[in-house]
Amino acid sequence: MSALQNRQILVGISGGIAAYKSAELVRELSRAGACVRVVMTRAATEFITPLTLQALSGNPVHLDLLDTEAEAAMGHIELARWADAIIVAPASANFIARLSQGRADDLLTAVCLASASPLALAPAMNQQMWRSDATRNNCEQLAGRGVQLFGPAEGEQACGDVGPGRMLEPGILAHKLEQLFDSGLLAGKKVVITAGPTREALDPVRYISNHSSGKMGYALAQAAIDAGADTTLVSGPVNISPPARATCINVNSAQEMYTQALALVQNCDIFVAAAAVADYRPDQVAENKIKKGDSESMTLTLIKNPDIVADVAAQQQCFVVGFAAETHEVDKYARKKLVDKQLNMIIANDVSDPSIGFNSDNNAVNVYWDNEKTSFGPVSKSVLAKQLIELIAQRS
Ligand code: PMT
Repeated sequence: MSALQNRQILVGISGGIAAYKSAELVRELSRAGACVRVVMTRAATEFITPLTLQALSGNPVHLDLLDTEAEAAMGHIELARWADAIIVAPASANFIARLSQGRADDLLTAVCLASASPLALAPAMNQQMWRSDATRNNCEQLAGRGVQLFGPAEGEQACGDVGPGRMLEPGILAHKLEQLFDSGLLAGKKVVITAGPTREALDPVRYISNHSSGKMGYALAQAAIDAGADTTLVSGPVNISPPARATCINVNSAQEMYTQALALVQNCDIFVAAAAVADYRPDQVAENKIKKGDSESMTLTLIKNPDIVADVAAQQQCFVVGFAAETHEVDKYARKKLVDKQLNMIIANDVSDPSIGFNSDNNAVNVYWDNEKTSFGPVSKSVLAKQLIELIAQRS
C-alpha cells in the first residue's frame, strides 16, 4: 500500500510549459489513494485549464487569494492546515524567487507561507535561468529552510536549449513525495498508542462516554508508522479507520483498555496515552435495561477506574507520554499530571476551545517534560502528530 494512501496533498501549479505534466501528477497521486486539492497561479491557467485539474482531482481548483466566495468555502489558512504535504510542480523561477522572499501576494505563495507541512518544489525553467546566481541563491535559501527540491532533470527543453531545468516526470515526483513521509526516526521501535473515548456501561443500552473522535491518537499512530515504528493502537469506539500498517486492538471500557495496555507495555519502547479515558464507571452494570420510574431524579454511584497511563509509567519499561485535556488553568494541571503520574512527557490541549481538541481536525498543544516547555499549532492533527513524534523521538 502506498504511503500516500489517505494523505491530503496540495498540488501547486505555477506558470510554465511543464504545467501540462501536472495533470498526470494529480492522476498519479489520486491513484495512490491521496486526496488532492490544486492551487494554481494566474500564469498557470494560461498553460492548463482549472477545469482539467478539477476533473482529475475531483475537487474545485483554488485560484484567488482575494475572492470572498472562495475564501468563505475554504480560506487560505484552512487550505494550508488541510495539507499533509505541498508540492509545487512546476515551480517557475519567478515562483521560487517570490517564495524565497516570503511573499504572500497570491494564493499559492500565501498557502506555502502559512503551512507547517512539508513543502517540495519541482523546478522547471530554461537551463540558463536555473543556472543563474539569483535562482541558485533562492534555492539555497529555501533548502536551508527545509524546503525539498525535487529535480530538475537535464535534457532537451521546450525552448530548444539542452541542460538542467526540465521538470521531473510525474511518476518520479509521486515517488519522492511518498518518501517524504518516511523519516525512519523510530525505526526498530515499538510504539503503543491509546486513542478514542471509553464507554462505561450502565445497562445493555446506555453508557457514559465523552466527545473523543480518535483523530489525535490515530494521527499519532500514522506519524509513528511514518517514522518506522512497529505501531499498536489500543482504540476505544470511533468512526474512523486505523492507519494501514497499524495493529489495532479495539476495546470499549477503561478496564478493557487497561488490560490491553498493561500487557503491551511489557514489550514496548514508547507509550502514548491519547485516549480520553473515563475516570469513573458505574459501580453496577444492570443486566436488563433500567426502566423509567416515578421518581423525578435518579442517582448513579460511580467508582474510580484504574489510571492506565500512571500504571504503565509505574512499570518503568518505556518512555511514557500522557495527554492532559483541560478547560482552564491548562499549564498548572498539565504540570501536576506530569509529576503525579510520573510521566516522561505530557501534551496539554485546551478542550474548551471547539476549534481544537475534541473532534476537530486541528489542535494546538503545550508540551512539558523535565523543566522544559514548548508549543505547537494550531495546525492539522496530522501535522501536529508528525511534530510530536519528532519531539518524542528526540527525547526518548
Ligand atoms: O480524539 P480527538 O477527538 O482527536 O480528541 C483528542 C483528545 C482531546 C482526546 C486528546 O488530544 C487528549 O487530550 N487526550 C487525553 C484526554 C484525557 O483523558 O485527558 P485527562 O487529562 O483526563 O487524562 C490525563 C492522561 O491520563 C491522558 O493521557 C489519559 O489518556 C490518561 N488517563 C486518564 C484516566 C485514566 N483512567 N487512565 C488514563 O490513562
